[in-house]
Formats: sequence, structure tokens, C-alpha cells
Amino acid sequence: MAALVLFGGGGDLAMRMLLPSLYFLEHDSLLPEDLKIIGAARSDEDRDTYVARVREAVEARARADEAWDEAAWTRMEARLDYLAVDATSADSLKPLRDKVGQGPVTSFLAVSPSLYARIVTAMRAAGLAEPEDRVVLEKPIGRDLESFRAIDDAVSDAFSEEQVFRIDHYLGKETVQNLIALRFGNTVFEPLWNSQNIDHVQITVGETVGVGDRWPYYDEYGALRDMLQNHMLQLLCLVAMEPPSDLEPDSVRNEKVKVLRSLRPVTPEEAERVTVRGQYIAGRSGDDTVAGYDDERGEDSDTETFVAIRADIDNWRWAGVPFFMRTGKRLPEKRTEIVIQFKALPHSIFDDRGEVRANRLVIELQPEEDISLSVMNKRPGLDQRMQLQPIQMSLSWGQGDRRARPPRRRIAYERLLLDAMAGDSTLFVRRDEAEQAWRWVDEVADAWAEAGAKPHDYEAGTWGPPEADLLLNRTGREWNVGSAGDRA
Ligand code: BG6
Repeated sequence: MAALVLFGGGGDLAMRMLLPSLYFLEHDSLLPEDLKIIGAARSDEDRDTYVARVREAVEARARADEAWDEAAWTRMEARLDYLAVDATSADSLKPLRDKVGQGPVTSFLAVSPSLYARIVTAMRAAGLAEPEDRVVLEKPIGRDLESFRAIDDAVSDAFSEEQVFRIDHYLGKETVQNLIALRFGNTVFEPLWNSQNIDHVQITVGETVGVGDRWPYYDEYGALRDMLQNHMLQLLCLVAMEPPSDLEPDSVRNEKVKVLRSLRPVTPEEAERVTVRGQYIAGRSGDDTVAGYDDERGEDSDTETFVAIRADIDNWRWAGVPFFMRTGKRLPEKRTEIVIQFKALPHSIFDDRGEVRANRLVIELQPEEDISLSVMNKRPGLDQRMQLQPIQMSLSWGQGDRRARPPRRRIAYERLLLDAMAGDSTLFVRRDEAEQAWRWVDEVADAWAEAGAKPHDYEAGTWGPPEADLLLNRTGREWNVGSAGDRA
């Protein structure tokens, strides 16, 4: 019998993401048959109360997705159990050890990362870190390289690297995996995937939400550490890495680490030219008027809620190709996309026959999941002189074939939970990868500190401070969405 233990099983992440993910897997008969799911948290509630809370959270989410099924819930309910524990105490974890039985245990730490070191130490003493057991760690693991190492040293005292699953939920998103399929499952893209043919790459992760009640966490981290160190650098790695020899976890992760090692450090002298910090002030979110970050926090803060960076990858494939990344809260759209901008034609024979635009591949993760290629096409008709127009070709799911489209967008954690329980770490972050990402991000943070770079204000509901446009405009480029042109 296998067991999945959710430490922090009554908390926000468990109720919003993990337990609904497990329900959907149950619904689709994807959970291991004999799996037991045990919520473990401090709160002294009994099993029935816990199960009722889980049902409420899961049912609301499943109904919204039109996937509520009493029979599936009954199956999931039979797996569920709850135990009140102090996870930092080995004695308190002993009854949990008895409850999980003899099979492999996957423990998901959905608790404050400040507790990780003490929890894994207690788990080891309580016999929950046996060679067949696994531990899943949610970000943020530390807030810089030094604190990451302190936590991870404790983790590696209890577990070997193969047993550790550091989650980056962006890697569980369908389109992110599709990016791997697109690059390495086709012959047509890879020969073009280099500095000879690609002008630049853009990665945008825009969110409409503000920081709100999360500021006690967020104020310590900011957009650089909350989003760029992990999700955005992971996306950058998948776009930039060399073809791995196979899809084994280490083959893929070796290639990602090489990209991170090739990132050019940001120096204090360069900081102003290649980075932009922003913080939202009062403005609009949809039809509502919303407060600025400082007002939400109740005092002035220098934490950035927006960051844009030009990253350069110093290797043969990418020399001279800038990777522009930007992310922020309170932007006009929840939009995540990767844009591969190909170079302009070396010579156009079409003169005044319509605007000839360079090809652009847009990998959209949110709000829609889609991959589209813009190509030039002849305008249909009998114009005396052939006229051109750009068209979008959708490459996802088989163009126009709605049946090929999955019926529901899966929560990223569904795939990641299944993979962790199966011991497949391909879509998880290895220790040296996380270290390398922290190293680069620390250099950016140090450069800001040394250069005294303060965040620029931007009104809620806009695409960040104007300096973020300048970052591209200065090089004759513009953002795919929310460029200065769109604002006018
Ligand atoms: C989390 C960040 O990792 O990702 C949040 O801590 C952010 O600040 C979230 O809102 C975004 O995830 P998604 O899947 O909604 O794009």
C-alpha cells in the first residue's frame, strides 16, 4: 500500500490545488489503486471534520469544471485520513508512521519553507525517510543561495537527491510540456532555433491580481524571487537548452543547468540598462478601482511587484539573441506567453504589396493554451498585383479539430503529483539547477542594492512602468502585447 502524506493538509495550497488535483485524478481513475491520502496538520480536528472540509473545497472546484461525480468522491473519501501532528517533532510523527503502513510514502510539504529543515529532520528520526520514500518541496526554498543551501543541506541529510522532488508548478502546465514536444518532436523548428534565425525571445507572465493579504511573504521576496528565480528561468531553460539525449530526468536537467550557467551576470553598472523594477500604485483592475502596493501593506516598501530583465545567454547557440522577461502583479491581463521572434527577411521582393512581417511563434500558456505561428500568406483574390497578409496558424491540438482538445484544463499539480508518486523527477528541479538560478538572481539583487535601484511606479492596470517598454524599444523591438503602441 502506498501513501501520500500532505503536511499542511488543511492549508491554502492543499485545499485550493492539491486535494482538487487528487480528486480529478481519482475521477479519471489515474490514482494508484491502493493509495492512501493522509492530511497531517497542527489543527486538532477529527477525520470527519477534515473530510467534510475537503469535500467542500473539492466539490466547489469540480462543479466549476463540470466534473463533479459522487461516485468518484466516494472513492476518494475512502482513501482520506487525517492526523493532528507537530511535524517538527519525531515523537509526534510516530503515529503517522504507523498509519501509513509499509508501502512507499510520498510526503508533500505544503507548509512554510521556514519549517522544512526541522520537518525533514523529524521525518528521518520517525522513519518517514526510508530509501523508498519521497519528499516533495514547494517553492520558495530559501530567499537566496545561502538560505537555499541551509535548507537543502538538512533535506539532503535525510533524503538522497533521487528522493527529493522540488516543485515548480509551471513545469506541470500542459503547454510547457508541449514546448518540449514542439522543439524535439519535429525536424522543422530545431534547425532554425539559434542566433542565425531568431532575433529575440520574450517571456511574459502577467497577472491581474495584486499582492493583497500575501504581503508578509511577498514583501520579503518581490517579483524577482517569487516568479523570476523559478517559473520564468525554467521557461527560459526549456526554450534555450540543447536537445537532451533522451527524456530521462538527468538528461533534461543537465541541459537546463548548462543554460543557467551560461547566463551573463548582471553587474551594478549594467543594472539600469538591462533590468527594470516596478511597483504598482493605485489604479484599475477591470472595472474596479484598486489600491497601490504600499497602501495594501500599510507602509512604504521598496519591494518590486514588477520586474523586466534582458538576459543574455553566452553560448554558441544564443550569442547576440536577447531574452526579455517580464512579470508583474496588477497588469491588465492574466497572460503567460513565450514569443520566439524570427529575423526579418534578408531581402524582400514584395515592396508595396502589403506589410511583410517577420515570422513569430507564440507559445501561449494562459489564458488559452495554444501555440501559433504567424506566417505571410497571399491575400485571397484576383488583385492585379499579388498582396500579402500575415496569418496565424494554430499548431496546438490539430488545427480546427476540437475533438483533439482535452475536455478540461488540468491543474498543473495533477501531472506533478502523479510523477512524484511514480518517482519520475524529469519535471522537477534538481539541486544544482536551483543553486545556479539563485546564483544569477542573487547577482541581480546585489546589483540593484549596489546601484541603489528603486522600483518605478506603475499604475495598476497598466503593463508596468514605461522603462519596461524602453528596455526593448532602445533596441528597436517591442513587446508582443502591451507595448507602448498598444497603450496609446
Ligand atoms: C506562484 C507565485 O508561484 O505562482 C504567485 O508565488 C503567483 O505569486 C503564481 O501568483 C502564479 O501561478 P499561475 O499558475 O496562476 O500562473
